[in-house]
This record gives sequence, C-alpha cells and structure tokens, in this order.
Amino acid sequence: MPSPVMAVNGGAGQDVLAKLTGQVVVCSIIAAFGGLMFGYDIGISGGVTSMDVFLKKFFPTVYVKKHHAKEDNYCKFDDQFLQLFTSSLYLAAVVSSFFASKCCKKYGRRITIRLAAVFFLVGVALNAAAMNLMMLIFGRIFLGAGVGYGNQAVPLFISEIAPPKFRGGLNVCFQLFVTAGILFANIVNYFTSTHPYGWRISLGGAAIPALFLAIGSLIIVETPASLVERGYPERGFATLRKIRGVQDVQKEYDEIVATTELAKRIKHPFKNLMKRSSRPQLITSAILQMFQQFTGINVIMFYAPVLFQTMGFHSDASLLSAVVTGTINVFATLVAVFCVDKVGRRFLLIQAAIQMLIAQSVTGGIIMAFLKATNVLPKTYSLVVLFLICFFVAGFAWSWGPLGWLIPSEIFPLETRTAGFFVAVSMNMIFTFLIAQAFLTMLCYMRSLIFFFFTTWILIMLIYAALFIPETKGVPIDEMNDKVWKKHWFWKRYFNDENERSRDKP
Ligand code: BGC
Repeated sequence: MPSPVMAVNGGAGQDVLAKLTGQVVVCSIIAAFGGLMFGYDIGISGGVTSMDVFLKKFFPTVYVKKHHAKEDNYCKFDDQFLQLFTSSLYLAAVVSSFFASKCCKKYGRRITIRLAAVFFLVGVALNAAAMNLMMLIFGRIFLGAGVGYGNQAVPLFISEIAPPKFRGGLNVCFQLFVTAGILFANIVNYFTSTHPYGWRISLGGAAIPALFLAIGSLIIVETPASLVERGYPERGFATLRKIRGVQDVQKEYDEIVATTELAKRIKHPFKNLMKRSSRPQLITSAILQMFQQFTGINVIMFYAPVLFQTMGFHSDASLLSAVVTGTINVFATLVAVFCVDKVGRRFLLIQAAIQMLIAQSVTGGIIMAFLKATNVLPKTYSLVVLFLICFFVAGFAWSWGPLGWLIPSEIFPLETRTAGFFVAVSMNMIFTFLIAQAFLTMLCYMRSLIFFFFTTWILIMLIYAALFIPETKGVPIDEMNDKVWKKHWFWKRYFNDENERSRDKP
C-alpha cells in the first residue's frame, strides 16, 4: 500500500511533508497507554467503594451507615471519607503535574512517561496489597503521581510527533484509551464485585496498562522538539526523518529550530506564561478543562453505579448499566478520532454542548418529577434516563472529552508549552477532585436540582465555545500564534508589537 504522503494545508505548513508513518502510529498508541491508566482509575473507584468487603475493612463506619441508616434516595451514599478515597488521587496528581512539567522540559517527554508508569506501578502494588488505610492512602498518592506525570507528558508527546494533518486524530487516541480504561475497569468491577478479594483484583488490575506503558517507554522515540530544545540537534533531525519516513524534513526541522531558539531564551516559562500575550492560550486551556468537568461527566464515570442504585436499579443492574455507558463512551470517542481533523474542533464542541444540554435537562426534569425521597423511579422512566445518559456520554465523548486534552496540547508556543499544559492538567485534576469530593453531598442537598446545576454550566460553555474558541484544525503546532490567535476577533487584542517584543526578551 502506498504511504499517504501529503502536504499540510495552510501557509508555511504547506511545505511540510506529512507522512503518517507506522513509527508515529505505534509510538502514539504506546504513549496512549498512559490514558488507559488514567481511565482505569476513573472507572474503578466507584465500583470498589460500593463493595461491602472493602467498606468493612477500610471504612467500617460507612459500612454500618450504608446498611443501617434510614435511607433517603438522594443521601444514602453521602460520606466525605468515601469521597476522599476517590478524590485524593486527583489532589496528588495536581501537585505531581507541576513537577512533571519541569521534568518534561528538562529531561524530555519519554523519561516523564517512563516515570509515570513507575509511580503508577508502586501505587498499584500498595493498593492491591493494602493491609490498612495508610497503605491505601499512600497507594492513591503514588497513583496520583503516575496520573499527573502521564497526563502531562502523553498528549504533548503525541501532538509533537504527529504530522499536523493527523494531529487531532492521533491525539484523540489518548482520550480513546482513557475511555477504554474506564470500560475495562467497569467490566472488572462487574466480575469481582462479589468475590472476597474482589477489591484487590480490581485495584491490582491497574498494573496491566502501567506495565505496557513501562515497557513501551523503552521503545518510543523522544520528540524532535524536545531533543532540539535540550541541546541534541542532530538526534532531533535524525528522529524527525525517522518518524516522517522521508529524507527531506529540512523545512519542518528549521521551524522546530526557530521556535526552540526562542524557547531557549525564555528562562522562566511560568513567568512568561503570565504575560499578556500568553493569556489567550492560558485562559482557553484552563477554561476548557474546567468546563469539561462541569459537564458533569465524572458524576457518571465515578458514580454511575451509585446513581443507578439511587434510581432504584439493583446493584447488579447498576454495575451493568455502568458497562453500557462505558461502551458508548469508547465507541463515541472513535467518532472524534475520525472527525476531528475533518469537521474541526469548534463544530464538535458546539454540536455536543447542545446535545448534552438536552440530555441533562430532560434527565433533571424526569428525576424531579418522578423520583422522591423514598420511592423507586418507574421502570420506563429509568430506561429513558439510561438512554439519556448514554446520549449525554456520546456527546461528551466526541467533543469536550478529547478536545479538553487536544486543544491545550496544540495551542502553546514551545517556550510555554510544558508550563501551559501543566495549567490544563492541573485544572482538570482540581475540578475532577472537586466534583468527586462534592457530588454525593450535592446530590443529597440539591436533589434533582443537581442536573440543572450542570445544565446551566453547559449553556455557559456553549456560548463560550461559539464566541471564544478558535479553530485549530490543520494548523502546524508552531504557527498557532500567527495563524490562529492573532487573527481571532477577540484574542488578537492580546498581541501587539510591544507585547511581542517584551515576550521575546530573555
Ligand atoms: C476527562 C475525565 C473523564 C473522561 C471520560 C476525560 O477527558 O478528563 O475526567 O472521566 O474523559 O471519558
């Protein structure tokens, strides 16, 4: 089969020969195992925290409460400690992603990915073998470090090795693996839930993606941009030839060198990130990640079994429903893989926001009308809600899910790329933490209004996307400022000659 050699659309990028080589595909897939680790973690905790054996061993008071408290549909799972088990990992990930961004810049993307796998493996060992709460907590901290390092390095790595024309689709592989990890975890939970050591098997299963990533990190290349940036220009050039599969990579290489020269003059990327001219990218990345969490997606990912039990499903049916939503999540992400570089980022963000808005508001309406404190949702309505949740998940999966990671990884110039991406990762982790920590309590106090809380946020993000998120499809990663930001009706005001000059100063 002839290789798809093609010129990249748009400006200087036109001359960049973009060949999608086996090397790029394999490296992207290996790196995407970092997403599988992340996804496994998201998907596993909800099921584990509903296992009686686990609760009895580590959270005996919760266990007693769960079985003896006077049950109110909306409040039966409200417990700060239990929520802390789920959320603590994300707190550790916020802190570690700061160090990961430094590591990424100084030692490269590949080493950062390897460290992610190592941290994760230590965390898995501590969790699966946990004899007491201390081991469990330390395990969560190491897992958090693994997630922080992985989420920092993997999307950047993929965006940097991908030819511009395929960058979106390849980068979405990260999200695809996140969703596969969630589904894998849901299935494991389904089968282990009644086993006496079920929780150990569930928590130990996280070792599988981490082992793949650890071994894979020995095989993958380092990105040309990182090699040049760290003072290895020849290796950068050779790697570029290798991953592009053509000899003539001079044009692309020169662009990398030019941006690297600029990047090297910036001694304090975080200070630089605070400058006015970095604001468009900074605000966009942070807000995308915040909005991503305020869709309410993790309420479903973490607490789907609990939510379905709240609606009156039996515990088996609840776990099974989580498998159903998990499957939709994976398949709908494939839509993004194939569409993101064709229809563009903005179309997907706006279309899906409308879809999620409908799903959340109708779900809220049904729950408000039919689920009271002590009844069970009538069967037909439960099925309609299940359908609406799938509809919601599908919309998220081909838009705000993958694009929350893709856009921040492609919009920063090299000099602020790792620092800027740190902001995206940490915003994701902070808001994931908040949702994980607060949701069950919010459900207890706000009841069905919780769905309208998320609906309001989705409306805000719909308007924001339409007005402020620019299209980045097909634009070479090192030409974003000129081709995207400086041309945007709103963001262009952040670039003027004076800003540019001060930004160039070392
Ligand atoms: C989000 C996660 C979410 C997952 C669902 C990711 O993009 O960052 O918080 O659980 O998508 O598929």
